[in-house]
Amino acid sequence: MSDSIQKGLQKAGVSAARRHLLICIGPDCCNSRQGELIWDFVKKRVKETGIPVMRTKAACFRICSGGPWLAVYPDGIWYGAINSARFERILQEHLLGGKPVREWVAARCGWAAECSERMP
Ligand code: FES
Repeated sequence: MSDSIQKGLQKAGVSAARRHLLICIGPDCCNSRQGELIWDFVKKRVKETGIPVMRTKAACFRICSGGPWLAVYPDGIWYGAINSARFERILQEHLLGGKPVREWVAARCGWAAECSERMP
């Protein structure tokens, strides 16, 4: 593997990551300004807390309404209408505490549910 690939993987935090946050920043599920604001907030809070997650901007999940959307993997949990207050609660309860914010879970991937059912 080349040095540049190894550096990139390290910079992305791939091997240390325990979760991956995918955030749609619009333009159809929310306006792009709103999307960028939540992206900046997520970036800031992830850095401040030091939680081992990767974060990636997504241009569109094909939902295109009710965003910004946040998908948390490998949990397969989807949250809509993310703003800074909602993300802070998701951060505290789900990402740090391990319990999804049930009332805000818009969807859960079918395969994720099957995986957790098989877990001891
Ligand atoms: S623009 Fe966000 S889901 Fe399509």
